[in-house]
Amino acid sequence: MAAASDAQDKKILHVAPEAVPFCKVGGLADVAGSLPLFLSRGGADCRLLLPAWDGVLDTAREEGLELERLPRVVCAAMDWRVHEGTVWRAAQGEMTVYFLESPLFRGRKIYPDQLDSDSVLPFVFLSYAALELENAVDWRPDVIHCHDWGTAPLVIALAWHRHYRHRQQGRGTAFTIHNLAHQGLLPLHSLREWGIEDDAFTVDGLEYFGVANLMKGAIIGASAVTTVSPTYAREIQTDEGGAGLGGLLRSQGHKVRGILNGLDTRYWDPAADPLLPSNYSSTNLRGKKKCRDTLFETFGWRDDGRPLFSSVSRMVDQKGFDILLPAIDRVLDLGCRLFFVGNGQKEYEDALLEVIGRRPDSVAAFIRYDERMAHLAYAAADFFLMPSKFEPCGLSQLIALLYGAPPVARSVGGLADTVFEHGTSGGNGFLFFDYSADALLEAVGRARALFRDDRGGYRALQREGMNSDFSWNRSAPIYRELYQSLSP
Ligand code: GLC
Repeated sequence: MAAASDAQDKKILHVAPEAVPFCKVGGLADVAGSLPLFLSRGGADCRLLLPAWDGVLDTAREEGLELERLPRVVCAAMDWRVHEGTVWRAAQGEMTVYFLESPLFRGRKIYPDQLDSDSVLPFVFLSYAALELENAVDWRPDVIHCHDWGTAPLVIALAWHRHYRHRQQGRGTAFTIHNLAHQGLLPLHSLREWGIEDDAFTVDGLEYFGVANLMKGAIIGASAVTTVSPTYAREIQTDEGGAGLGGLLRSQGHKVRGILNGLDTRYWDPAADPLLPSNYSSTNLRGKKKCRDTLFETFGWRDDGRPLFSSVSRMVDQKGFDILLPAIDRVLDLGCRLFFVGNGQKEYEDALLEVIGRRPDSVAAFIRYDERMAHLAYAAADFFLMPSKFEPCGLSQLIALLYGAPPVARSVGGLADTVFEHGTSGGNGFLFFDYSADALLEAVGRARALFRDDRGGYRALQREGMNSDFSWNRSAPIYRELYQSLSP
């Protein structure tokens, strides 16, 4: 117990570009919005720093948070320039959240399309302001936990910035890779504008094929590098899965570890979810049938016994749309219905609309992210489709499991750690391995057959997922132990 209570004493600051419920682009927001909160509920002194992008402070107020503007500003030193920010403090349940306000965060979408000195400046400011936060809030973290390339400048500053490398000795940093596909590449000269010294511009630093790679710098500089599932941690240390950084990650392998993401299961709970037309649990699935009926009524569908496969996903290459869409007619011909929520690359959206035009009785979609529709998609589904090309963790399959929609997923990354083949011990879904339309189709066929031929078997599969614990219970102790090992 002594170790556990020591860990509780450590002060941890999470710094993230996005976090639910305040702002969200992808799964990083779900993690940054739930992990520190979960640790705080367990008694840790874990706080969160977020940029006040447009609308963030209003959303915080709508969520019932009381915002207090702190009298002291934070000043972040770039090269010769200093940028100032205002800090707003709020209690979100047991956790303290700091919102950083600055003109730099106004009128921008969170992640820029093009990375350059100007568009990345808000992230650099967020990162440096995190190092200066103690001057405004009278609280100094023992460990700072950063998320993805947008907060990499914090770790980089501790190693190579002309002030921060000297002034901030002994800080433990954890850097979490949510997605190695986005590394933050930009011209080397940008770094100079931010006060990064020239010794960072080498191949042992941020230099990467003639440009600066922020993720690379953070991997080298961080005290610990984590990623969001054990399998992805192994994959990114290979040449095939390392997105150009496989060799580096191998050489830093002693400090790389995969820690499986959890969900906020107070929010994702079919028995209490206020966004569903009807609630349900593994022992009483009547409400799930009502959710299914609601969705069918929305599209004027008659229930003819075909199973419904849902997808809640950004429509991008990573998520497998390039194998799914070419196979879609064959999937439908197996006797399946499909429902999609999400948007993304135009060619995928267009291809989907084309099929819907031809086969409106079999496919429907909401081509934008809509929270209520997403919840209904999980609840109404008999199965959940997730044919990802790569998947650091994946949260949708966890939600689908809890909502009684066994996943049909490609065995890769976090999917391989959470979805297990029907008929094996702990079986909760269907897996395929090859990244191909045929392999996907074959797995859908197996799911379809179980649904038609073995209702008992299907129910057992559903129950397996619904009765699993996908909260942070499993991984929170691993993070606590990590923080303990990183703090002075
Ligand atoms: C990214 C990854 C996803 C992961 C999420 C949260 O969005 O693509 O797999 O679950 O981050 O870590």
